[in-house]
Amino acid sequence: MKIFVTDQEGKDYELEAVEGWRVMEIIREYGLPIKAECGGACACATCHVYVDPAWVDKLPDMREDEEEMLDEAFNLKENSRLSCQLIMDESLDGLKVTLAEYGD
Ligand code: FES
Repeated sequence: MKIFVTDQEGKDYELEAVEGWRVMEIIREYGLPIKAECGGACACATCHVYVDPAWVDKLPDMREDEEEMLDEAFNLKENSRLSCQLIMDESLDGLKVTLAEYGD
């Protein structure tokens, strides 16, 4: 499985994805610039990503706590998600996301 990630500078990466890992963890493991301060607890919004439009509807719905946390994220867009709330499985093979700016 793979995911495709564009960083804040527009550089593209193809990452090997592991089933059961959070998308945030995969991105962090590769050393790409993602803060993910709370370590995946849905309490910081610094794992904010923009989901490729072709993928938005294929993702599991947001839980309420993700929605609430995203409300506090910097530069919120319609395709914003918290990457720690996306758990890798086959249905996400090929997922494309862009890392959001940190905002600080
Ligand atoms: S890592 Fe903190 S909300 Fe995702």
